[in-house]
Parts: sequence; structure tokens; C-alpha cells
Amino acid sequence: MTVEHLPVLLREVLDMLSPVKGGTYIDATVGLGGHSEEILKMIGQDGRVIGIDRDEEALRRTGARLHDTRLIPVQGSFSRVEDLSVLPGGSKVDGILFDLGVSMMQLKDPGRGFSFSSDEKLDMRMDISQELSAWDVVNEYSEKDLVRILKDYGEEYKAVRIARAIVDNRSETAIDTCSQLAAIVSRAAGRRGRIHPATKTFQALRIEVNREIDELKKGLEASLKILKKGGRLCVISYHSLEDRVVKNFMRDKAREEQLRLIVKKPVVPGIREIRENPSSRSAKLRGAERL
Ligand SMILES: C[S@@+](CC[C@H](N)C(=O)[O-])C[C@H]1O[C@@H](n2cnc3c(N)ncnc32)[C@H](O)[C@@H]1O
Repeated sequence: MTVEHLPVLLREVLDMLSPVKGGTYIDATVGLGGHSEEILKMIGQDGRVIGIDRDEEALRRTGARLHDTRLIPVQGSFSRVEDLSVLPGGSKVDGILFDLGVSMMQLKDPGRGFSFSSDEKLDMRMDISQELSAWDVVNEYSEKDLVRILKDYGEEYKAVRIARAIVDNRSETAIDTCSQLAAIVSRAAGRRGRIHPATKTFQALRIEVNREIDELKKGLEASLKILKKGGRLCVISYHSLEDRVVKNFMRDKAREEQLRLIVKKPVVPGIREIRENPSSRSAKLRGAERL
């Protein structure tokens, strides 16, 4: 592949999703199309993949790269997966994949403002037409709200200290760039170990800006409505908050006999994949079949 992104747990996703010839699949986070590309190889000429993403640029690049009429690109948030997937005559799909979070393209492209090592303006919007950005959260949220998001979305135990430092610093001039914020957080939290001290703060901001937890809950609920009996739902998450939402959702729906769990414990990458693609290290794949 010529993309700067390696699809995570690719073989495991394909095993779990088990794409069939002529099937219709939804890749709810098509990104750079790594997973979709392989699904397309398995579904024959009559199959199709509806590729959803919030990020217009990701869809543009993937469309140009894969150049395949069986891939139907759709821009939007996966919380609206039911409305976005125009299915003829109320038909349902054979499988849905969610590969959560951000792509390498979003992290690395200049101007997206996701990465704490960059001098870019704080941004972090996956959909650049959205109004709320990380700059607004950092410079305009109350101290109380900053503490709340740092705790809830960053699981940051130094939330109070970090929120205080943000509020103190912005009282003089606005905190404009990612590296400015990273330096403020590092001074407030102190560096310990290999992980950058601003990692949890940046995670929390990204989740808040993109309403990621709410999106996930709505996306999972909506996906049940369009999955046919025997159809498969596969979700890759990258941090404990997301994984908890997925795990609880699948467990509850299994109790209600709407889903059957395919695996009890999440599937995680092996040493080899982690070595080749370190950003896969926190991935957890869960899957269930529609009853
Ligand atoms: C980890 S990447 C997916 C990578 C993809 N599986 C591949 O192999 O190229 C996640 C993608 O999901 C998109 N995304 C995240 N949350 C979304 C949401 N709520 N609705 C639609 N797309 C979303 C991001 O814009 C990003 O492109």
C-alpha cells in the first residue's frame, strides 16, 4: 500500500467480519481505506462497501487511491449511519466496521492541530466544517468544565492542577498552539516515564471536540437497526473509555438477545504487528453477530 497508514488488526477484522461475495458492508470510519480495500477484494463484483467518514479530505484521498465504483463514499458522522447508508427498499447490511479514533493522516498532516509536538494552531476537528475546535475548549471553557473533561475523557488524575495552569496562562494571552499547550501541561504535571505528560490532556480535548463518546454510543445503537440477521459488527477501540462503551453495549445487547458475542475477550495485536506499527499497540477488537 502506498498510504502512510497501516490498517490495524487487518487479518483479525477480516476473519471476524467474514465478508461474503455480493455482500454489502459499511466501513463507518473509512479513513484511508486500508480495511475497505481488503474487504473489496473479498466481495466480488456485486458486493459494495459504503465508506463513511467525517473527514472530507480522507474521503477524497481514499476515493482517488482506490478508484473503485463498488466503494460508495459518504461524508458524515457515524452516529447517523442509518440515514447516511442509503439502502434500497429498507434492505440491511452484512457487516459494519468501526475503527475508532484518528488516522495517521489527521495526526501528521500539517494544519490539523492534533499533535502536541507541532507549532500549529490548536484545532483537532475531524470535520473541518464543524465550529467547535480545541482552541475554543482551551481558551473559552470554564475551569470547572476543563477539570471535568480532563477527568472524564483523559482519566487524568492531575486534572485540577492542569486546568488551573491553563486558566492562569490564558489570562494573559490566548493559548494558540499545540506546543504552547503541551509546554504548559508539562510544567503543571511534571514529566514521569516515557509517555509525554500532555498525552491525556490531548486525548481529552480530542474526545470533547469531536464528541467521540456520544458519537460512539449513537453509532452502535444505529448500526443494530441496519444489520441483517447473521450480520457482523466489528469495533476497534484505542483507549479504555471507548472499549468500555463497546463492551457494555455488546454485553447488554447479548443479554437482550439482539447480539451474540463472537469473542468474549477483545482481540489485540501481536508483538509483530506492534513492532511494525507501534500505533496499533492499544487496539482492542470486539465483535458480535446480529440475532
Ligand atoms: C483510525 S481511522 C480509520 C482508518 C481506516 N480503518 C483505514 O484502514 O484506513 C479513523 C477514521 O474515522 C473517522 N471518524 C472518527 N470518528 C468518526 C465519526 N464519528 N463519524 C465518522 N467518521 C469518524 C476519522 O475521521 C478517521 O478518518
